[in-house]
Amino acid sequence: MITTHELRSKYIEFFKTKAHAEISGKSLIPENDPTVLFTTAGMHPLVPYLLGEPHPAGKRLVDYQKCVRTGDIDEVGDPSHLTCFEMLGNWSLGDYFKKESIAWSYEFLTDPKWLALDPRKLSVTVFAGDENAPRDEESAGIWKSVGMPEGRIAYLPASDNWWAAGPTGPCGPDTEIFYWVGEGLPPAGSNKGTDSANWMEIWNNVFMQFNRVDEKTLVKLPAQNVDTGMGLERTVTVLQGKTSVYQTEVFAPVIAAICEASGYAYGADSEKDRSVRIVADHVRSAAFIVGDPKGVLPSNVGAGYVLRRLIRRAVRHGRKLGIEGLFLRKPAEVVVDNFKGPYPELDENRAKILDGLEAEERKFLETLEKGEREFEKMLPNLLKNPQKVMSGRLAFKLYDTYGFPIELTLELAAENGMTVNRDEFDEAYRKHQELSRAGSEGTFKGGLAEQSEITTKYHTATHLLQAALKRVLGDHVAQKGSNITAERLRFDFAHDAPMTPEQVKEVERLVNEQIARDLPVAMEVMDLEAAKASGATALFGEKYEARVKVYTIGDFSKEVCGGPHVERTGTMGRFVIQKEQSSSAGVRRIRAVLE
Ligand code: ALA
Repeated sequence: MITTHELRSKYIEFFKTKAHAEISGKSLIPENDPTVLFTTAGMHPLVPYLLGEPHPAGKRLVDYQKCVRTGDIDEVGDPSHLTCFEMLGNWSLGDYFKKESIAWSYEFLTDPKWLALDPRKLSVTVFAGDENAPRDEESAGIWKSVGMPEGRIAYLPASDNWWAAGPTGPCGPDTEIFYWVGEGLPPAGSNKGTDSANWMEIWNNVFMQFNRVDEKTLVKLPAQNVDTGMGLERTVTVLQGKTSVYQTEVFAPVIAAICEASGYAYGADSEKDRSVRIVADHVRSAAFIVGDPKGVLPSNVGAGYVLRRLIRRAVRHGRKLGIEGLFLRKPAEVVVDNFKGPYPELDENRAKILDGLEAEERKFLETLEKGEREFEKMLPNLLKNPQKVMSGRLAFKLYDTYGFPIELTLELAAENGMTVNRDEFDEAYRKHQELSRAGSEGTFKGGLAEQSEITTKYHTATHLLQAALKRVLGDHVAQKGSNITAERLRFDFAHDAPMTPEQVKEVERLVNEQIARDLPVAMEVMDLEAAKASGATALFGEKYEARVKVYTIGDFSKEVCGGPHVERTGTMGRFVIQKEQSSSAGVRRIRAVLE
């Protein structure tokens, strides 16, 4: 029986036989992209290349990429939805298009040499057409020519068959591939359009021909690209003849560890089974998020906040299984051991993952105890209420002041014969959400392409800044971190004393001088070793491909970098350092803007 690890290798191997270069998947936490908290698809790190930037490894690429998506969190626990999954992807950057893409997908899935899936259990969807692009008869025709029966092809609208990573950015019509997970063979004429429950999506081939610039504007991309994503966990599920991702070796040992901690026998109760699956999914996501090279720990902002919610949700579902104390360490350890092969960072960060999860668990258990104590204190007064209704205002206070989840307030109230005014709680909660959303608007507004022009300028400004710092402070200045939003750049670097005001002024002056010189920015692809030998700045310890891009800004800066960058520095505006401060021991942080 094929395993997850084998499928991952086979996929890469297959596309190598079709002249694809293997590239490495990237961090789960995207760098220099303020529009998303996590890498949500294999194509995400490739956006600049899908928009036209040349990729150093060529025009045909293949990789595996860990992804986190929380949009479907309410469906997690069903047979196919996960918050963390692996996507196998192959890309054509202006090279092959629909014909090869579809033919190769079909070959890989059905050829006895590769996955040998039963072609009678496959069906596909294609784009039905709208004002942006015509009905995709071309893809349907190619499917028929490889052997897909007419009745297995469904034409669906943009809501199903138009794929975009965000409100702006590269997008296009897609064709999706499904496998039958119902009993026996699918009836003739059955497809995703007629029966959505029994067809599980396993692969999506997107024909990226457009860039969405804003709500109303779609521009044709310079090249016709293909972006595909195969769901690793789902495909392994069908290859193993199973009907749920949780039945595979990706989850079975994690589920066993959770059941051992709780003493619950999996299969005894459908509600509790679902809780076990939710814990398994969330533990796995949390381990991957903390264990990433750019990993975060739980916090109240951004990715750290999503992580906090995942861990706390896991703890709550653990309590539904009767677990009172700490328990996440063991299942997290199983995840690390299971995936340290393809993701060595999990092993390298083992202690951080296990301790990080446990610390958050402990914190949350304290929160729960405190909330329960507060509830006990409120109880005598609450019981005086003849209607036995707890006000939503009080329930919200428990949530807002003590972090006590509404679900638990509802449970405690019910145990004491009371209900909670849920409408009032929801209203208070909604107002609170609006306020916090307004507070973080700067982080989330806009989409990929809209932001790309300004963030490109900040990207180039970061190179100028690093080169200027080396000139003013010395060669020991090395990048320790970089973060770019549409509003500012932030740069962390090794230097063990605060900069003097004169040094700050000088760095600023040097950067502005290079902008005023309107220097050309040139890119060259070379071997990593040659790049280093040529004096290009590279990050110590960073995982690079064997062939890398080197960006040279006039005579001032030379760095190994994926890009993108401006063509000339003259368009960048005025560079202003707003703050220079300590970041951690021996590391300084600069925040700067372009005006
Ligand atoms: N980018 C496409 C997806 O995520 C392949 O479905």
